[in-house]
Amino acid sequence: MSVIHLEELEKSYGDVKALSGLTLDVPSGSLFGLLGPNGAGKTTALRILCTLLEPDSGNVTVLGLDALKDPCEVRKKLGYVAQEVALDKILSGRELLQLQGDLYHLRSIERNARIAELIERLEMGSWIDRRCGTYSGGMRRRLDLAAGLLHQPQLLVLDEPTVGLDIESRGKIWQILRELRSQGTTVLLSSHYLEEVEALADRMAIIDDGRVIAQGTPGQLKQNLGGDRVTIRVREFSDEIESEQVRRVLESIEGVSQVVVNRSQGFSLNLVVEGEKVLPKLREELQKAQFELFALTQSRPSLDDVYLQVTGKTLMDAELETAGQRDTKLERKKTMR
Ligand SMILES: Nc1ncnc2c1ncn2[C@@H]1O[C@H](COP(=O)(O)OP(=O)(O)O)[C@@H](O)[C@H]1O
Ligand SMILES: [Mg+2]
Repeated sequence: MSVIHLEELEKSYGDVKALSGLTLDVPSGSLFGLLGPNGAGKTTALRILCTLLEPDSGNVTVLGLDALKDPCEVRKKLGYVAQEVALDKILSGRELLQLQGDLYHLRSIERNARIAELIERLEMGSWIDRRCGTYSGGMRRRLDLAAGLLHQPQLLVLDEPTVGLDIESRGKIWQILRELRSQGTTVLLSSHYLEEVEALADRMAIIDDGRVIAQGTPGQLKQNLGGDRVTIRVREFSDEIESEQVRRVLESIEGVSQVVVNRSQGFSLNLVVEGEKVLPKLREELQKAQFELFALTQSRPSLDDVYLQVTGKTLMDAELETAGQRDTKLERKKTMR
């Protein structure tokens, strides 16, 4: 069963098209990762599903409710942890949580018990009574998370929950999200970190230019890429003919596809191989053809490879691009496809 169903969402801010036909289903009980570079439309999609923003068109169903018709009911059932929250600097964390509890109309006994529980669970005891103005990034994120969890939502939505955090604070947040999932809460988070989605999510969607361009389990997305990546180093070829020869030898081996001769980073050949028996065969054939093998490394395709395949760029490229460089981005995509 889907806890979130977004269908054909369109949203523009003036001339900027943020979402163009975004469709997404989040199954109940999953820890779902929405992965995409800055400007892809993640925040816009999350704000729409949390009823903080109206789409220009499309349908939004959350926990069986039509979010466009019944936003108040939806808000009661979900928790939203925004990307950037301006915390009041004068109040303490505890006071902020109390205010939040009042917004949800919790009775004060229930509210205080719940706050005490969250303080313990998120290890906030030593600083929760200090003014928020003195908090570190990691403390603020934990407080945001506590605020989102106060009313025990069935669905928790987090927008880039670990951006800018040190490794320890990030690990703490990951641990809490995993615990929530194991207790049956559906968790949807956006991220522009591949490793975060790989570490956490049991399902994921890649979003780019306001649309979902791939979705499934991380394993499925990797599987679609075919077999393992193998890089071999051989002695440098003296000429083109020799390099063509070795390529032909490799391509003739059953289970080898995509042989790329790479001269830029040392001298290597990159291949995609399918099946266990390929490697011994590969050694044998190279030896027969008298090409000396210096080194061989093998790896499973990573989410990086998935990202590269579906977007035609590495996440690093995506990071470097700003909204103002959209045109060059489109150019590049066209040439890569
Ligand atoms: N309030 C806004 N006014 C104008 N443009 C916006 C606004 N919010 C977002 N955008 C633009 O919409 C696009 C999608 O933004 P956003 O949803 O924030 O993406 P992400 O969260 O993936 O970085 C970007 O091009 C961004 O510049
Ligand atoms: Mg964002």
